[in-house]
Amino acid sequence: MIRFDHVTFQYEKALSPALSDIDLTINEGEFVAVVGHNGSGKSTLAKHVNGLLLPTQGTVTVCGMETSNEDVLLNIRQKVGMAFQNPDNQLVTTIVEEDVAFGPENLGIDPNEIRTRVDEALASVGMTEYASFAVHHLSGGQKQRIAIAGILALKPQILVLDEASAMLDPNGRAELLETVHKLHKEGMTILMVTQYMEETTGCDRIVVMNRGKVVLDGKPEEVFQHTDLLFESNLVPPETVSVRDALRSMGYALSDKAMTAEQLAEELCPLLSII
Ligand SMILES: Nc1ncnc2c1ncn2[C@@H]1O[C@H](COP(=O)(O)OP(=O)(O)O)[C@@H](O)[C@H]1O
Ligand SMILES: [Mg+2]
Repeated sequence: MIRFDHVTFQYEKALSPALSDIDLTINEGEFVAVVGHNGSGKSTLAKHVNGLLLPTQGTVTVCGMETSNEDVLLNIRQKVGMAFQNPDNQLVTTIVEEDVAFGPENLGIDPNEIRTRVDEALASVGMTEYASFAVHHLSGGQKQRIAIAGILALKPQILVLDEASAMLDPNGRAELLETVHKLHKEGMTILMVTQYMEETTGCDRIVVMNRGKVVLDGKPEEVFQHTDLLFESNLVPPETVSVRDALRSMGYALSDKAMTAEQLAEELCPLLSII
């Protein structure tokens, strides 16, 4: 669904490329997390998916359309919804349902169709009962879910989140992550850039970036076996994975699948003779 073919990107006047020779395929319905320290190229990568940036070398193809082809750029942007860090910058009106309707209204969509889309989008992010609320009364997590509802009302097939949870408190982050997982289960293809490793354990794949390159790309259980490479990329594996590895070195036979606290507890309890 998304294909990066030998993509290199250099910002004007930058000394080194922000992306170098990226080869990446994201299949329909996949949930891919992108992690990497500050400046590793995550946002630059995300902005290539909807043609906000175009490769200096190589090609990016979305649903079979090349982003460098101006004739299909609008088409690509209808397929790719983008959510960013600051929810306040993404909300444009004062009332929740007006905000969700804003995008479709701008496209001149029929009012009845807009009503249906707004209701569906609010239901999708679990915010139906807030339809007539003032946006400024919402928490950060709720605002971010409204921003995503606004994207959903445009009926994209791909959702790209660029550190959308970064400004949220732990509750807001959990709400947002749950919403994204629900959208994924409903069939949405997701590319989620995050600085929180804990958020990646439930994804289909993790892409680890360092200095504009993809250094690891695999299932969470595979990626978290390469703690050396993660540390080299200035990343710390989720605490639960570190605990698991420490327990393993003490002789507990825990599997690679144990990555969350729940999974860890499930495998550990039978091994503890005192329980
Ligand atoms: N508009 C820009 N002009 C020049 N260099 C930039 C610009 N935006 C980002 N960069 C540089 O490109 C590299 C990758 O940045 P970015 O994609 O924002 O990384 P990340 O999102 O992982 O923090 C960094 O070295 C950053 O300084
Ligand atoms: Mg960034």
